[in-house]
Amino acid sequence: MGFSLQDIVVLLFLSALMKADARVTAVDSESKRTLLANGLGITPPMGWNSWNHFSCFINETLIRETADALVSTGLAELGYQYVNIDDCWAEQNRDSEGYFVPKKSTFPSGIKALAEYVHSKGLKLGIYSDAGYLTCSQKMPGSLGYEQKDADTFASWGIDYLKYDNCNNGGLKLMERYPRMTRALMRTGRPIFFSLCEWGDMHPALWGAKLGNSWRTTSDINDSWESMVSRADQNEVYAEYARPGGWNDPDMLEVGNGGMTNDEYIVHFSIWAISKAPLLIGCDVRNMTRETMDIIGNKEVIAVNQDPLGIQAKKVRMEGDLEVWAGPLSGYKTAIVLLNRSLKPSPITANWDDIGIPPKTVVEARDLWKHETLKKKFMDKMTVSIGPHSCRMFVLTPLS
Ligand code: GLA
Repeated sequence: MGFSLQDIVVLLFLSALMKADARVTAVDSESKRTLLANGLGITPPMGWNSWNHFSCFINETLIRETADALVSTGLAELGYQYVNIDDCWAEQNRDSEGYFVPKKSTFPSGIKALAEYVHSKGLKLGIYSDAGYLTCSQKMPGSLGYEQKDADTFASWGIDYLKYDNCNNGGLKLMERYPRMTRALMRTGRPIFFSLCEWGDMHPALWGAKLGNSWRTTSDINDSWESMVSRADQNEVYAEYARPGGWNDPDMLEVGNGGMTNDEYIVHFSIWAISKAPLLIGCDVRNMTRETMDIIGNKEVIAVNQDPLGIQAKKVRMEGDLEVWAGPLSGYKTAIVLLNRSLKPSPITANWDDIGIPPKTVVEARDLWKHETLKKKFMDKMTVSIGPHSCRMFVLTPLS
């Protein structure tokens, strides 16, 4: 049986179609490897969240005044743009059509009006829900089973950031819960920063970047030195997994809440910054002390956090309670934190070998807390004396 010219043309056409189809399928499965492509979180997110200071005692006036204070204190200009409402903003029950209802006694104007207000200040509004049947407070519903409805609601309100918690999940596997919300958010077409709050239970650093823009690596922080440093340690283990678009999250800042000394809060902020952690202020920014503002408003430390390279620092050397944390910055610079976790002062040495600077390199050192460039230049190592429960933070710039 012979083929006519027409048969051959048809066959060629069909085989071209099949090849094209195979390419489409390949592209499809490639894109499914990452459900999230919202272009957000190119540097770690910066903003404020209600939980650490106010827990469930929140209302729309507080949120508005916080937005005002972020602007009037200059924090907004420094990059703190997200105003994030945490748990307890909704009524216990959904409406008859299954939609979230903002709590009438505390958010009488609704969330859309609040978003408009926050946007009018040049800021962004974040909200909170849970990959379970109820949130952690158990005072409002979670989004499990309502993912698309809730994502659409958030988008229609003008929400810019969603923190998604892990309580009351009925024992369902996280892969049956979190990706649903990632997809739902993507389907809304509104770029919404997606913050996974899975507490580090199932090593979210290993899978978080496919689903979210940040992932909690720890259980909840509290306003104490022990809690803070232990979260820093747990988060450090996953340094390799942080990168632009997806960040390890050791939980929100406690700076300004009163449970630590000023030096301890400086350690807290320095380690969060160098670890490329989200910088989410957790104090009452309407009533801050000068000391608190000097910490969270330190431009040079913020610049380390927001450096475009987006590489999380590691603890490169540890001798008992004396530690060296270091990470590369753009422009061949290196950020270091020399941390003394003991209760007595001690010198700490950063060796170029440990912090990744080539031998014989001469560097200039900028002290980010004293805001001064040291006169002395350093080669191969740098030794600095550090107070108890304190740190010093430097950016080292090679001169040769
Ligand atoms: C969990 C989260 C906290 C906070 C509370 C709210 O504990 O980890 O950050 O959101 O829930 O109930």
